[in-house]
Amino acid sequence: MPSPDEPISAAVACTTRDAEPLRFDFRNAVYEHWRLRFPQTQGQPREEHFLKSRQLAELFPTLAQLREQVLREITFPEERARAPQPVDHGFITLPQQLLEEDAQAANSSLLHRMRHAALQVRELADRVVILGIGGSYLGARALAEALLPTYHNELSAEIRHGIPRYYFEGNGLDNDALADLLHLLQPSAGRTDSREMRTALVVVSKSGTTLETSAAFRVLWRYWCDWYSKPLATQLLTVVTECQPPSRLYQVAQTLGLPRTAIFPIPDDVGGRFSVFSPAGLLPAAILGLDIGQLLRGAHDMTQHFFREPVEQNLPLLFAAVSYLYYEKLRKPIRVLSVWSKKLEALGLWYDQLVSESLGKEEKGPTPITAVQTRDLHSRGQQHQDGTRDRIIHNVFVNNIQKPAIRLGIMPDNADQLNDLCEKSIPDLLRAAWQATNQAYGEDARATTDLILPILDEYTLGQLLQMLMLATVIEGRLMGVNPYGQPGVEAYKRNMRCLLGLE
Ligand code: PA5
Repeated sequence: MPSPDEPISAAVACTTRDAEPLRFDFRNAVYEHWRLRFPQTQGQPREEHFLKSRQLAELFPTLAQLREQVLREITFPEERARAPQPVDHGFITLPQQLLEEDAQAANSSLLHRMRHAALQVRELADRVVILGIGGSYLGARALAEALLPTYHNELSAEIRHGIPRYYFEGNGLDNDALADLLHLLQPSAGRTDSREMRTALVVVSKSGTTLETSAAFRVLWRYWCDWYSKPLATQLLTVVTECQPPSRLYQVAQTLGLPRTAIFPIPDDVGGRFSVFSPAGLLPAAILGLDIGQLLRGAHDMTQHFFREPVEQNLPLLFAAVSYLYYEKLRKPIRVLSVWSKKLEALGLWYDQLVSESLGKEEKGPTPITAVQTRDLHSRGQQHQDGTRDRIIHNVFVNNIQKPAIRLGIMPDNADQLNDLCEKSIPDLLRAAWQATNQAYGEDARATTDLILPILDEYTLGQLLQMLMLATVIEGRLMGVNPYGQPGVEAYKRNMRCLLGLE
């Protein structure tokens, strides 16, 4: 263990691929590093706002034990039975299982079935509506928004290479939004023979009983039966659910005579908000043309990193530790995921749910907030810089852009006085904004960390999402709450069913 005054190494990377790694740099959140980086702020009593190397180092043995405990629970059923219930560790090994199955039985694997079903959807329809809520929605949305072109739905079918336009529904009870969607999707009379006029329907619900999703499906299905012939409507439908009773969605699929090839399972031991690498996230991703093999490879590599790397170089363990210590020891209840790309806003929503439902229990738990930069520098930014000292800010920054950098260029009359920046590009400005913001917060003794993604691609997103899920499980165990299950969500559901006369 390092001596108390020795700054702990505070930048780690997951380097499983021969390319730039995913990195976690938390030097601006560790007192000994902050003191060296911002010497001009010395003399002010600001220590209490930062994590000390010693606090982190003291947690290392516990982190190692917790990881060992998770491994034992995965390996030995009797250990799993002894753990606080429910224990839904299935997401940890799922990527490896799916990849191995695919390598062994390429023509009958679940991955193959999903790719095949996705191809059929793309051949049949130019639009897809994905119904689901919570964990049965946010993962797919995070992947779609991060990895598809920003204005995908506005592009012509040719430019989209046949990838359907996508819409998420069943995630609220908004009559007018649903009516608008139906209006948008209604095919011109007698034109359902053309792919452009057809919309596929994917219904995702693990329990198969969630009212928002079931209600949306019931309504949409009525329209589908009205718009399309019965065989075509059935062909356009795919279901993702727990493939056994009491999933009513499974029963509905059976009643409608849906073939087995159109029904995909969410494993029993994979909880909703941990299900992005099950068919709940993978099937929509495959329909949207994303490389689901690469998503799983990224996730699997992160799991291996988690189990193999020593604590001091372990990204999920250190992310969990820093987050936990800021919440529990430094009493900073707000956790901001500050994403430096519009494309990552839905990732923030996904992380909001992961943290809220996993850690918001027994009158404890950090409050997650997503900020999209630089947009929110002009709203939340004021509070981050100047408001209550109640937060840790985790930046998510993408290091390399996908498209050619756009330069500011020359304006003939230089009326805006920016010609000096003519050689600078949008990414140059973004990087300057990120560094300037960290500096401004650092100078005022406000802690930040940086998760630096090499690029926005399937492999990196696979790594990042798996890292955040693993870290959340460890954080729950550190806090003494069970990260699985969401008893708090049940109360409103029960009341609502009573009010509606269902119980
Ligand atoms: O994390 C969870 O388990 C929840 O957010 C669920 O995903 C959400 O309630 C939707 O449940 P279901 O997939 O059963 O419709």
